[in-house]
Amino acid sequence: MQAVILVGGEGTRLRPLTSSVPKTVVPLVDRPLIVYMLQWLRRHGVDDVIMSCGFLATGVREVLGDGSQLNIRLRFVEEPEPRGTAGALKFAEELLDDRFLMLNGDVLTDLDLSAQIAQHEATGATGTLALVPVPDPSSYGLVRLRADQSVEEFLEKPSPDAELDTNLISAGAYVLERSVLDLIPPDEKVSIERRVWPRLVDDGLYGFVDDSAYWIDIGTPARYLQVTFDILEGKVRTDVAERLGDEFLDVDPSAEVAGRVVPPAVVERAARIAAGANVGGLAVLAEGVSIGAGSTVQRSVVLRGASIGEECVLRDCIVCPGALIGDRTQVTDGAMIGEGVSIGADNVVSRGARVFPGMEVPDGGLAF
Ligand code: GDD
Ligand code: MG
Repeated sequence: MQAVILVGGEGTRLRPLTSSVPKTVVPLVDRPLIVYMLQWLRRHGVDDVIMSCGFLATGVREVLGDGSQLNIRLRFVEEPEPRGTAGALKFAEELLDDRFLMLNGDVLTDLDLSAQIAQHEATGATGTLALVPVPDPSSYGLVRLRADQSVEEFLEKPSPDAELDTNLISAGAYVLERSVLDLIPPDEKVSIERRVWPRLVDDGLYGFVDDSAYWIDIGTPARYLQVTFDILEGKVRTDVAERLGDEFLDVDPSAEVAGRVVPPAVVERAARIAAGANVGGLAVLAEGVSIGAGSTVQRSVVLRGASIGEECVLRDCIVCPGALIGDRTQVTDGAMIGEGVSIGADNVVSRGARVFPGMEVPDGGLAF
């Protein structure tokens, strides 16, 4: 089975985590999101994948190579400029089989693709959208479904005053017949959600509901943290759960731990946790991270080589690779510190604040 994965979006809502790498290769616990996706696709019989890239394509290539480790044939297609979700598919037309899967590249899910493909065949659909229920559907593509699973209405990101009487959203996983390409004009920026799905309503568009699946779009800092915690707690089926075992903990033998690590947590190679520091529950320290004496890291992700001073508090935050955080600084409440950023001592960064690469924060310079 063939699959096209869309990875060309700019990931603006996840900056600065996505300032230098595309959303799809953002690290989640111990591997990039795309590796989870490829492992999931492989379990459902996919052996041929086309990565539809735009923004920062080389980053995706470098991480994945030719896919041989995963037993998948991997090819890369790069648009000359962002063509939108349908335009990107059209751009890959020459490589596509008669039937293929299309996936949004920023979703972690274990939904049952095999059952979706089986339903697609049974209904004779042109397109079958995977659907999952979510508590607040307004920021997604909403679907109203008939009893025979055909789509009655597709509404992409409805306006705030629209009446919503469904909680089923399009999960960003589609089974498509090649004929959908005939609906997409070439060489133009076109949205599949706004131009193609509405045209297929009553003309071969079906929905496949999987209400027991894990599903999350990692597109915001809060959701990035949530998905990290869900992986650590084994709420989604991944290989990481095996790595963590019944203790929900993995501390690499090369890490130097003088402080305390509370599960669920992952501490990678050459990380250092000084005396009196507390790491976890729900913490990821990537390779080479250092945590100073007396500091606390809870419900947070600290990426490669970042260095945290003494008596700091990191809670519900993301620290990007190579960042330096001075003593007694607090980073909390959804804040994100960009790659290589240096923050002085005695600062407070909280309430979703984001510090971007290139910004300098001196000692005691920031309180928000
Ligand atoms: N190649 C390419 N070119 N890929 C693109 C482009 C483009 O111009 N624009 C977006 N993408 C990719 C993104 O990288 C992402 O993987 C996917 O297409 C969806 O784009 P998002 O920007 O993440 O869209 P969204 O999350 O707001 O909405 C979409 O996903 C929801 C589920 O997460 C829609 O498909 C909704 O209908 C859906 O409910
Ligand atoms: Mg998205």
